[in-house]
Amino acid sequence: MTHSTIPNPAPALTQDQLKTLVGQAALQYVVQGDIVGVGTGSTVNKFIDALATIKDRINGAVSSSVASTERLQALGIPVFDTNDVPRLSVYIDGADEIDGNGYMVKGGGAALTREKIVAAQSDRFVCIADESKLVKTLGAFPLPVEVIPMATRRVMAQFAAIGGSAKIRLKDGQPLVTDNGQYLLDVTGLHISNPLAFEAEVSQWPGVVTVGVFAFQPAQVCLLGTASGVKTLTF
Ligand code: 5RP
Repeated sequence: MTHSTIPNPAPALTQDQLKTLVGQAALQYVVQGDIVGVGTGSTVNKFIDALATIKDRINGAVSSSVASTERLQALGIPVFDTNDVPRLSVYIDGADEIDGNGYMVKGGGAALTREKIVAAQSDRFVCIADESKLVKTLGAFPLPVEVIPMATRRVMAQFAAIGGSAKIRLKDGQPLVTDNGQYLLDVTGLHISNPLAFEAEVSQWPGVVTVGVFAFQPAQVCLLGTASGVKTLTF
C-alpha cells in the first residue's frame, strides 16, 4: 500500500465535512463521457452531489441501490440498468471497514448485494471513507450478510459454529427487507484474518445471498478523509 496526502486547508473538519471532501475528491477518477458506477451510503451521497456538478460531462450512472437511484435521478443524472452497461471504468463507493490490502467490509447501508454486482463489472473500485474505517483486521464492524429468509436460522447457527453471533437486522421492529426482498444478518465476534478464504467459504453456505466481505472485489484506491486532508491509498 502506498499513500500521498493533499493538505487540508481547513483543519478540525467534522466527519460530515470529511465525507464531502472525499466525495468531491472522487470526481478526479470519473472518466468524462462514461457511465459511472455509484455505491450507497452517506459518503456516496456526498459523491452524488458532487457528480451532479459535472453531470453534463458524463453519460449517466449505474446504481447499487434504490436510495442512490432516487438521489441520482432527483439531481438529473440518468440511471442505467446494469444489464445494459457491460463494463464500467470506475465504481465509487464507501465502506464500513477497509484494510491495508483494499479488502473491505460493506453493507452497513443494506446494499451489499448490488454493490458487489456493480463492483464486479467495474475496472476500478475507488473507496471513499473517513479514517475511522481503516483497520488492520476486518471484523470489528458487525458483518452484514444478506440471506434468503427461509435460511436465516440455519445460517445464524453456522456463524455460531465459527464463533460469530448473528442478529437479524430490524427496521421498525420487523426484519429489514433489502432491495432484493431478502433479510440481513449482522454478525459480531468475527476476526477475519483471511478475507479471501472467509468470503469464499461463507458465500457457499446455502441461503447466503451475499457476504459483506469484499476481498474478491477489493478497492484499488481509497480516498481517506483525515484531519490533515484527503489521503490517497493505492493497493
Ligand atoms: C452500504 C455500504 C456503505 O458503503 C457503507 O455502509 C458505508 O456507509 P457510510 O458512507 O454511510 O459510512 O456498504 O451498503
